[in-house]
Amino acid sequence: MVLADRVCKSFGSVQVLKGISLEVPRGTVTCLIGPSGSGKSTFLRCINHLEVVNAGRLYVDGDLIGYRERNGKLYELSPKDAAAQRRDIGMVFQHFNLFPHRTVLENVIEAPILVKKKSRAEAVERAEYLLDRVGLANRADAYPAQLSGGQQQRVAIARALAMDPKLMLFDEPTSALDPELVGDVLKVMRELAASGMTMMVVTHEMGFAREVADQLVFMDGGVVVEKGDPRELLADPREERTRSFLSKLL
Ligand SMILES: Nc1ncnc2c1ncn2[C@@H]1O[C@H](COP(=O)(O)OP(=O)(O)OP(=O)(O)O)[C@@H](O)[C@H]1O
Ligand SMILES: [Mg+2]
Repeated sequence: MVLADRVCKSFGSVQVLKGISLEVPRGTVTCLIGPSGSGKSTFLRCINHLEVVNAGRLYVDGDLIGYRERNGKLYELSPKDAAAQRRDIGMVFQHFNLFPHRTVLENVIEAPILVKKKSRAEAVERAEYLLDRVGLANRADAYPAQLSGGQQQRVAIARALAMDPKLMLFDEPTSALDPELVGDVLKVMRELAASGMTMMVVTHEMGFAREVADQLVFMDGGVVVEKGDPRELLADPREERTRSFLSKLL
C-alpha cells in the first residue's frame, strides 16, 4: 500500500529525511517510533502530500505521490490533483482539529458531502454507523467542547473514516490525552486494524505496537535505523541507538 524509496526532504538547508525506504503491505499496521525531531511527522506528512519530497519516490497504492512521471521526468501535480490523491488517505493528528462550531455529526458528514458529493442522507447514515463504531452513537449532537479529549479523538477517527480511505495515518493520536482516556482510542484503533485497514501510526504506546503492529520502525536523525517484527525488535534491538532510545522510553 505504501512504498517509500529513498525519500528525502529538506526545509531550507536542513535535511530532515535522509533517504527513507520502507514498505507497508496492504492490510498491515506499521508503528513508527523515534526521538523528537527525527522526522516521523514529516514522513507522514510527505505520504499525505502535505509536504513535497525533494528526492526519492513515494507510492501509495501504486500511485506516485505528488508528481506525475512523463518520459522519465517528474512534474509536480497541480493542487487539484494533489488534493485528489490526499482524499484517499485519512490522517489523525495529536490535536484533533475538529470544527468547534459544528456538532459531532456535522463534523463527520462535512467532507463526504462537500468533497465526495454524497447526499446528506447517505452521509448521515454512514456517519451514524461510524460514530457507533467508535462508541459515540449517542453524542452525535454534541459540540466538540462538550466532549473529552478521548471522545474528540474518536470523532476525528470517524471523520477520517467517513472518506473511505485506503490508508490511515496517525500522528501521536493519544499523546495529548489524559492517561485514562488513551485506552478507548487505542481500542478503536485496534478494531480498525482488525478490520483490515492499512495503518501507519507514530506512537510511543509500546503495548499497542507490540500487540497490533506487524512492523515497528525506529527512526533517528532522518533515517530508518532499524525495523522489524515489533516483539523481536523490542526484546532484542540490533542497533545501539535503538537500544538506548527504548531504555529511556520504558
Ligand atoms: N515546516 C518546517 N519548516 C522547517 N523545519 C521543519 C518544518 N517541519 C519540521 N521541521 C524540522 O524537521 C525536523 C523533524 O521534525 P518532525 O516534526 O518531523 O519530527 P518528529 O519526529 O515528528 O518529532 P516529535 O516527536 O517531536 O513530533 C525538526 O528538526 C523540525 O524542526
Ligand atoms: Mg511529530
